[in-house]
Amino acid sequence: MPARVVARQTLRKTTTRAASSSSPSTEATSSPFYTTLTASAATVVAIGSVAWYYHLYGREAFAMTPQEEGLHPTQYPWEHYRWVKTFDHQALRRGFQVYREVCSSCHSLKRIPYRSLVGTIATVDEMKALAEENEYDTEPNDEGEIEKRPGKLSDYIPSPYKNDEAARAANNGALPPDLSLMVKARHGGCNYIFSLLTGYPEEPPAGATVQSGLNFNPYFPGTGIAMARVLYDGLVEYEDGTPATASQMAKDVVEFLNWAAEPEMDNRKKMGMKVLTIGALLFALSVWVKRYKWSTVKTRQIVYNPPVGPKR
Ligand code: HEC
Repeated sequence: MPARVVARQTLRKTTTRAASSSSPSTEATSSPFYTTLTASAATVVAIGSVAWYYHLYGREAFAMTPQEEGLHPTQYPWEHYRWVKTFDHQALRRGFQVYREVCSSCHSLKRIPYRSLVGTIATVDEMKALAEENEYDTEPNDEGEIEKRPGKLSDYIPSPYKNDEAARAANNGALPPDLSLMVKARHGGCNYIFSLLTGYPEEPPAGATVQSGLNFNPYFPGTGIAMARVLYDGLVEYEDGTPATASQMAKDVVEFLNWAAEPEMDNRKKMGMKVLTIGALLFALSVWVKRYKWSTVKTRQIVYNPPVGPKR
């Protein structure tokens, strides 16, 4: 058979087959009933898989009861949380005093060197004097002996305990955590720590069980905290005459701890304002330049003047 004829026959066959899909013999599969059934089944499967997926991953998991999670702290209007506000450096100074006189007997602040307090919280001389109160190890000398020397500005604030084990041993087995980054490390930040420090009730509420050695505090996850209430009115004497109420001390020490965790905050906000201001100016300038450069194009009118000639 010549090739052209074969090709033509194949062509004809395909045509017939394509046309046969609407032939009466296959009507059963595409009847309205089957179409509806298929569509319904597809819908059920689609909705079902969405529901199953939601059941598996969509709902928020509440593994813990509110009691286990701790009470949500109140939102306080912290001045330094605002966009254009800095830390109150008087408060930082008072807060550092509270840390030194109260918290430092249990909590370390080991990421903070004395030098970083100079100029923000205290003067050089004050910090030098404070650093010299503590002894630090020297580098090994020629005989390999390590000696003691008074602290310098470049030293870090010393920990109250030699190591974690000593800290646990002194605190009923509970480890007082390092406070350097505490504000960032806890959900709720300043609000949480303030609530924790001021949230110890006189008596645990009726029905609450408190393990021996623990103290009741509704803000602490689990409500039983190894740290007892530490802040009482008049515990420290502020050098600037601010009345040292428990809440004042809590507020000051929390602001200080926020500074310890984010010492760059003041500069960061200042830099942010500069970036926004200069960015806005440059943006305005670029809009102006664009309009200037495009003005000739945008105000141009293109007109077609048909050639004038003898009428045909
Ligand atoms: C007598 C020792 C002691 C003193 C003083 C003390 N704490 Fe504590 N603190 C602890 C212990 C122990 C824990 C661990 C509690 C636990 O895990 O149950 C703790 C835990 C904490 C926590 C962490 C809570 C959490 O969510 O894990 C913060 C924040 C805290 N203390 C802040 C302070 C501040 C601020 C001061 C000073 C005003 C202070 N503490 C004074 C012993 C102390």
